[in-house]
Amino acid sequence: MANIVIVGTQWGDEGKGKIVDLLAEYADVVVRFQGGNNAGHTMVVNGEQFISHLVPSGILQGKICVIGNGMVVDPEVLISEIDYLIEKGIDVSPEKLKISEKAHVIMPYHKQLDQAREKKATGKEKIGTTGRGIGPCYEDKASRRGIRFVDLLDPDVFDQKVKAAAEEKNFYLNQYYGAEGVSAAAIVSEYAPFRDRLADHVADISVFIDQTSRTGGQLLFEGAQGTHLDIDHGTYPYVTSSSTVSGNACCGAGIGPRRIDHVTGIAKAYTTRVGRGPFPTELFDEIGDRIQEKGAEFGATTGRRRRCGWVDTVILRNAARLNSLSGLAITKLDVLGGLDEVRICTGYRCRGQNVSEFPADLSVLEQCEPIYETLPGWKEDISGVRSYEELPDQTKNYLKRIEVLTGTPIDIISVGPGRNETIILKNAFC
Ligand code: GDP
Ligand code: IMO
Ligand code: MG
Repeated sequence: MANIVIVGTQWGDEGKGKIVDLLAEYADVVVRFQGGNNAGHTMVVNGEQFISHLVPSGILQGKICVIGNGMVVDPEVLISEIDYLIEKGIDVSPEKLKISEKAHVIMPYHKQLDQAREKKATGKEKIGTTGRGIGPCYEDKASRRGIRFVDLLDPDVFDQKVKAAAEEKNFYLNQYYGAEGVSAAAIVSEYAPFRDRLADHVADISVFIDQTSRTGGQLLFEGAQGTHLDIDHGTYPYVTSSSTVSGNACCGAGIGPRRIDHVTGIAKAYTTRVGRGPFPTELFDEIGDRIQEKGAEFGATTGRRRRCGWVDTVILRNAARLNSLSGLAITKLDVLGGLDEVRICTGYRCRGQNVSEFPADLSVLEQCEPIYETLPGWKEDISGVRSYEELPDQTKNYLKRIEVLTGTPIDIISVGPGRNETIILKNAFC
């Protein structure tokens, strides 16, 4: 029996959805523990693509899926996701999809504030958020003004909280941002059907997953975003508003750290970033364009073009330490096929000094020049390869260098978006 946490190691979109879907076969319950519909997790099963923003990626395997207390949930988006899954014939009944009563609800004014702030910001002030209200919702949680599912379920409490919030938010929206305000009455009537629709899904998640685990069930915790978008450890302020590292699986789901057995870090065979912020190995040449095109690197949530660059083992080492990674899953290895040479960033050079650890000071990070190791590429299309032995020697060599430079074993290799396009070297559940 094992409980596993899956996290992104870079700046998100590493292929977490694919790996969670794959490993969910062996889990009893899949729990998302942070973030909201800023995430876009893609699963491809029998050639059909599914993108989930809120529902955990275990749903296609027919597993019980849980929206943890650490998440921020836009109920309208959740309902449309549930409807979409129902249309596809997937069971999303309250037995299969549970929502923590402590999860926070994204309100219309959160989205308006997020967008108004981005609009008003100039130059480096712009974060490039997804505009989904994630930051303002977490702000209300921290300032103890948030609205939780338990509050949504009680019409009187909800009504009162919305009225108080609208007064404050309208002040900001009108006076500071020059934006249109919200009507408390309109929100109350807009959200009433959401209450009716979602009420049966709301539960005490901590108790549920504890019971599952105590009776022999295996838990899979699904992270969103990536380690370098973490509010504490990422490239602040160009980060998201939640803690994306493995430790938050405990806080965001309501379990203790002794329950976690294994942490898998998902890393693309190269690096991407969507939104603003420093990215030392970013490529601005035709190789970057080629990776972007071949990897179809467009955001699953906003459709924005993802910035692309070489794999960076400084950030992967950082992720290995911050998450206490047991192993890595390397995804999109097929995308690097056909290049004469591939490069791995082993460290940075900044103001004449070698830098081996990821700097907290962005003005330092911005001056970091990557130090590369150049390896021969492979010409073969590896998307049909299903065993490690069949991989070209150059590909094996590339993977071995990543293992050595990160000090982390590679457990899984992904060579295509499909569930079956995978080489599993170690399955932590078995
Ligand atoms: P997530 O947010 O970490 O779940 O990742 P996204 O779904 O946003 O982005 C990953 C993209 O890469 C999706 O379009 C996946 O279908 C795709 N993908 C995942 N693994 C592979 C792979 O090994 N090869 C290729 N070519 N595509 C992959
Ligand atoms: P998944 O789970 C990639 C980025 C945004 C922006 C910053 C802050 O699919 O990997 P936010 O809306 O969270 O306040 O935006 O974080 N971002 C992501 N980038 N993948 C994601 O999720 C992301 N979620 C947020 O682009 O730079
Ligand atoms: Mg994504």
